[in-house]
Amino acid sequence: MGNKKSVLVLFGGVSSEHEVSRTSAASVLEHMDKNKYEISTIGITKEGNWFLTGSPVLRILDGTWEEDKTNKPVAISPFGDDGELLVKEGKDTYGKLKVDVVFPILHGKNGEDGTMQGLLQIAGLPFVGSDAASSAASMDKALTKAMVEQTKAACQAKCYVCQDKKEADEKEIIGFFQNKFPLFVKPANAGSSVGISKVKSAAGLKPALELAFREDSKVLVEEAIVGREIEVAVLGNNNPKASCIGEIFAANEFYDYNAKYENKASLTEIVKDLSPSKEKEIKDTALKVYKTMGCRGLARVDFFLEEGGRIIFNEINTLPGFTNISMYPKLWEASAIPYSELIDKLIELALEK
Ligand SMILES: Nc1ncnc2c1ncn2[C@@H]1O[C@H](COP(=O)(O)OP(=O)(O)OP(=O)(O)O)[C@@H](O)[C@H]1O
Ligand SMILES: [Mg+2]
Repeated sequence: MGNKKSVLVLFGGVSSEHEVSRTSAASVLEHMDKNKYEISTIGITKEGNWFLTGSPVLRILDGTWEEDKTNKPVAISPFGDDGELLVKEGKDTYGKLKVDVVFPILHGKNGEDGTMQGLLQIAGLPFVGSDAASSAASMDKALTKAMVEQTKAACQAKCYVCQDKKEADEKEIIGFFQNKFPLFVKPANAGSSVGISKVKSAAGLKPALELAFREDSKVLVEEAIVGREIEVAVLGNNNPKASCIGEIFAANEFYDYNAKYENKASLTEIVKDLSPSKEKEIKDTALKVYKTMGCRGLARVDFFLEEGGRIIFNEINTLPGFTNISMYPKLWEASAIPYSELIDKLIELALEK
């Protein structure tokens, strides 16, 4: 093994973004330098079972890794302050797996929301990305809004938060927005646009709220912003850097799940038409939001850019998509950091004290 670092890749998970995570993990595994890292892989099924798996990337992609007969049940030990996991070898026998660093490639609930990060922190395992508190706050759109509002890091859309279903009074919401439509209704904790609706009239509000409450017990209603959708990748711990700026051209009316992952007509491009001062303003705002949220390692910060030039912060993703076509690696490629080097940097940042 020499002085190769042992990296544990986690994928799958009990999340509406399970499939996206498998695709992201397949890309990361393909680009990770095998000469530098001893790689082990844990797949988490949709039911929440953990398996150490040697399945090839293609089987991770299509989901058939779960049928691999060589998979072994595996668990993180809360006592392992020396970076060990317990691997089930026989009926009552366990082996140990020692890892230097964990790369959780999990999106959404139970992966990006601080729960996994808390588990890794308790187990004493260094990992790529933000800690439990910062992940949880960044995942929850209502908490993020409150923190960004408090530090005045960025402008945001007018928003009504329903803390629970009982509080979701349609008349009050419509009054809050002075009868103006369209509105966006979103679960506070979800991702990949799951449970999000664009509501064009009062009649659409109730079904939109019901859909969102299926994903989370807390729901946001927002004024619709008209503008370009732009994104910035941020990388670093105490001295983070912002990438160049990317733009999304959604094939559907908004960037819903289908537009993101299924409709091939959606495009992402590098923005080249902004003035240097506007570019700087956007990047500086992304860094302010990143610092406000206490992020580490990486995050993608998403904005709307109105025609008049106003920048409106939309959301931050602490474990953004990592597929071949995802914006996060694409933005760094365009900023002179190729995918494999990006992985090296993320691992270095995870190990930095
Ligand atoms: N206030 C708004 N005004 C206009 N469009 C919006 C608004 N909020 C959301 N959208 C549209 O809905 C999409 C999904 O919303 P948002 O990015 O908030 O959710 P998400 O599910 O968290 O996405 P991600 O997978 O990036 O975490 C946006 O990309 C945008 O197209
Ligand atoms: Mg989004």
